[in-house]
Amino acid sequence: MYKKNLHNQIVELLQQQSFNIAKNDSAFFARFIANATAIESLYQQLYAQHPENNRIWKQLLQLIITAYQQRPSAFVERDTKKLQQEQWFLSNELAGMSLYVDRFCGDLQQLPNKLDYFRELGINVLHLMPLFESPLHESDGGYAVSNFRKVDERFGTLQHLQQLQQNMQQQEMFLMLDIVLNHTSHQHEWAQKAKQGDEKYQDFYYMFTDRQIPDQFDASMPEIFPESAPGNFTYVPECNQWVMTVFHQYQWDLNYRNPEVFLAMLDTIFFYANLGVDILRIDAPAFIWKEIGTTCQNLPQAHAILQLIKCCVEVATPGMALLGEAIVAPKKIMQYFGTGLYVAHECDFAYNATQMALQWDALATQDVRVMLAAQEDLARKPYGTSWITYTRCHDDIGLGYEDNSIRKAGYNPYEHRRYLKNYYSGNIENSPARGTLFSINPKTQDARISGTLASLCGLEAALAKQNEVFIAESIAKILMMQAQTFFLGGLPMLFYGDEVGYTNDYTYLSDPGKSYDNRWMHRPLIDWIKNEKRNTVGSIEYQIFTQTQQLLQIRKQLPVLSDYSNITWLTPHNIHVAGFMRSYGSERIYALFNYSNKAAYITWHAFKEHVPVPKKLFNYINQQVYTVGADYEYLILPPYDIALLALQEQY
Ligand code: GLC
Repeated sequence: MYKKNLHNQIVELLQQQSFNIAKNDSAFFARFIANATAIESLYQQLYAQHPENNRIWKQLLQLIITAYQQRPSAFVERDTKKLQQEQWFLSNELAGMSLYVDRFCGDLQQLPNKLDYFRELGINVLHLMPLFESPLHESDGGYAVSNFRKVDERFGTLQHLQQLQQNMQQQEMFLMLDIVLNHTSHQHEWAQKAKQGDEKYQDFYYMFTDRQIPDQFDASMPEIFPESAPGNFTYVPECNQWVMTVFHQYQWDLNYRNPEVFLAMLDTIFFYANLGVDILRIDAPAFIWKEIGTTCQNLPQAHAILQLIKCCVEVATPGMALLGEAIVAPKKIMQYFGTGLYVAHECDFAYNATQMALQWDALATQDVRVMLAAQEDLARKPYGTSWITYTRCHDDIGLGYEDNSIRKAGYNPYEHRRYLKNYYSGNIENSPARGTLFSINPKTQDARISGTLASLCGLEAALAKQNEVFIAESIAKILMMQAQTFFLGGLPMLFYGDEVGYTNDYTYLSDPGKSYDNRWMHRPLIDWIKNEKRNTVGSIEYQIFTQTQQLLQIRKQLPVLSDYSNITWLTPHNIHVAGFMRSYGSERIYALFNYSNKAAYITWHAFKEHVPVPKKLFNYINQQVYTVGADYEYLILPPYDIALLALQEQY
């Protein structure tokens, strides 16, 4: 939709500031006009009723212009290159790793020395866990930010971060950072002023003089950390008020009903974009709008805010992709890719948390039916958007997928989840998994799971028993879990330490800033002597590292594995085997994963359901060629085996 007045307003603003809209700035101008109506309508949808609406609207337009003006030319060039590729981030050539800089290598100054390590493994996207200033013992791993623009001294300085970014860019690597949009630390300047009674900043948060409104909110809001931070409000003695704190008591929820808050946070987003961030991870977007009588999650206004951010970014800093960290039910996740007019214009990425959890489900039950039942919802992801695929991250594993998927597989949802929790917390005899339940809700018995990939796959228990067979089995499980995320479609994001099989670290228990949060058991402190063992042939580290490396190399070789929304799940011929087909043009590849501890048999008929029917298949994993047999003959997959079969000859 075109609005002449808006067009004129933008032209006038740009001309006043000596932009050359016919030449150098023509692409920016075109993007601005193309997005202007959407920006205006989303802004009005959110803030039309606000008394300062007009003043802030003008500031918003100016903010977009300034962000573009301040964009370093190297990033403008990079934007142009990315835009030429359309969705640059769908590529099979990308693979990422998420890490805590201090726990990985000390600080930002050391990280450039580690770039070779990432290249060796096949990683070219780095997600650096929160780096901005955060109070030491009240940091939630950096997700309680007290200054959005100052790198925490523990990690170094802003200059170190910029230096790293330049090094990475020279090596064609991509940077991913977080914006913690939902809350600030109670030590942030805004919160400090609010504590001192400054009404302007009290309006940056949800603050109330008594419990009347907090009680109304609480009636329908779930608790996120019921054990360590029950309730959703915290009393602030300094100003005798109650402030909304959905996560920990020291994380104050920002009030996006106030357009000043939106503007200040958009400014921060542009600040990160102009540091050279390629993918911005928007932390906890599901929570950014609150409404009494609702769960205060996934509300339409939260989506409007994200869409507004997306449109503004598309205009000023278009090379930066947005990842919405919405760990919510499958149907809800889909909405973060945008709906209606905004399909594929909200978040470019979301975490495929459902698939991640379902892989853990299948590993515990040796049955892939729940995973398959859930794909119907996941397949709705719009073209041009992508998943972050992963097995582990810094957070817990939630079992929040639909009950219906569990029922379709023939299980009782409550019993099924109880089994999974017991299996992963080592409460079932013979379970090789060593994890711990996280955030048990005493009222509902809901719980999530903490633990490293290796420990949950049985390596910790196998090492304790010094049992070679179990060690080999756990390594096979680790690789199978990873491989599925590499081949599924999306940007695989490894979690640091998993590439060499770190097991749980229990030292967090003696640290008062961490002991209340068992997610720290799976956030390892890297011991480079251990990581060096990746070069010792036969060591566990060697086995996991080199095979992970090979799997990533295979991914990079095969453009068909780019995320062109080109996945078709295979008919379940065997309940132990997850299988899907990826196709693009005339390319086709089948990926199979045996979730059972026994060999699995797959009828060759499984490969004949789509034309052209393959005659011969080449397995990229073991380099073997198979002749597709009769329907009563089988492809045999050893326990926890992976097969990646490319169509070689067809009928
Ligand atoms: C996100 C982060 C998590 C953090 C929470 C609150 O979910 O991944 O680690 O605790 O947001 O910021």
